[in-house]
Amino acid sequence: MEFPKDFRWGAATAAYQIEGAATEAGRGPSIWDTFSRTPGKVFAGHTGDVACDHYHRYPEDVAIMRELGIGTYRFSVAWPRVKPDGTGPVNPRGLDFYDRLTNELLANGIEPMLTLYHWDLPQGLEDRGGWTSRDTSYYFAEYALAVHKRLGDRIKLWTTLNEPWCSAFLGYAAGVFAPGHTDVQEGLSAAHHLLLGHGLATAELRHAGAETIGITLNLAPVVPADPQDPAELDAADRVDAMLNRLFLEPVIKGAYEPYAKQMFSDGVVLDGDEAIIGQPIDMLGVNYYNPNLVTARPGAPENPVYPGSHGVDFRPAPGKTTAMGWPIEPWGLTELLERLHRDYPGLPLIITENGAAFDDVHSDGNVADSDRISYLEEHLRACHEAISRGVDLRGYLVWSLLDNFEWAEGYRKRFGIVHVDFDTQARTPKDSARWYAKVIERNGL
Ligand code: FCB
Repeated sequence: MEFPKDFRWGAATAAYQIEGAATEAGRGPSIWDTFSRTPGKVFAGHTGDVACDHYHRYPEDVAIMRELGIGTYRFSVAWPRVKPDGTGPVNPRGLDFYDRLTNELLANGIEPMLTLYHWDLPQGLEDRGGWTSRDTSYYFAEYALAVHKRLGDRIKLWTTLNEPWCSAFLGYAAGVFAPGHTDVQEGLSAAHHLLLGHGLATAELRHAGAETIGITLNLAPVVPADPQDPAELDAADRVDAMLNRLFLEPVIKGAYEPYAKQMFSDGVVLDGDEAIIGQPIDMLGVNYYNPNLVTARPGAPENPVYPGSHGVDFRPAPGKTTAMGWPIEPWGLTELLERLHRDYPGLPLIITENGAAFDDVHSDGNVADSDRISYLEEHLRACHEAISRGVDLRGYLVWSLLDNFEWAEGYRKRFGIVHVDFDTQARTPKDSARWYAKVIERNGL
């Protein structure tokens, strides 16, 4: 099963999840530093203070990638390293790290893909309203430009935001992620300002000459219990509107759907905003983990992460799940990719994250993770199927290169294809890493 020539094979990480060095070289605090220190928010009080110590061990991590044959590495830049307070002067020592990392990647023949925002908002900006404040969108564009100024000569692939749905609704509406607020209107306002920030940053990057610009969204099919039943279809559609279309429509078509637009309080979406959000992009990053299974249940309360979801219940997975309890449904990826291809034709796609947490089995110094291998293999088949049906899919990046700080789950959920011993910081490629190296070498399964 061969993949197209030039298909990108890679791995992804995010700054707060792996870097550590939380106070080094002038880095300011982010909302995740604050959140992880708030009792009861993150499993066992884990923080990203040390994480995988990638800040110091990046040469070893790049060497591992090279050994595995990884061609593209997606990482994120920590805004509070670059602008410790979120705005104001650039901290060149913070950018030095990404300069070193970029050079190390290029020297090893690995293409860097840079994400500007993977959830670590400078605490200084949160103190002024965070993503519920319109100013944050403009500060984000300024920060994006500062990063481009330093690295734009070497970075070709740019991603503005990672999963704005999570930042907005898990962070501001459900309170399970930083900054931990629980207000649906704040969630919506954050979503809009994230999108506005994406548009403003895209315009700046484009003007500065960035080659390929995109955004990474967490997308998933929303599946009703009975596709013949209008009430079920309506339940699924209202969740889909908030999970998928709230982001896809303005980014790709430059306009919110009327249903989504009337959700916002007055004064949040200003004239001209949607046109800014709809700046042309070159590639859409897709993060896929599982479909969303829903059913209509009159009287069910609104789920704050899907505004307007009154009367909708979420169904448990019928089949196997990962250690996160997430359903394993690779067909959902084929379906999603085909839908994107159909609804937004002409936009190249790349899987910027796909992977799974499992409880790894250790034996004789090896980490046997056959569950992960099956997961990855099935999802790669799903990608191949989509490609064979005409989808313009340009690459696949596994989440994640390393076991890391899995947000509210701390270090207890392991997504890596490389095992990390958090006591010694020893790295051990798991069986899945060896398997993936073969896939890359063959350019297929
Ligand atoms: C995604 C995040 C990523 C990681 C995976 C498991 O939502 O982008 O940082 O935590 O989930």
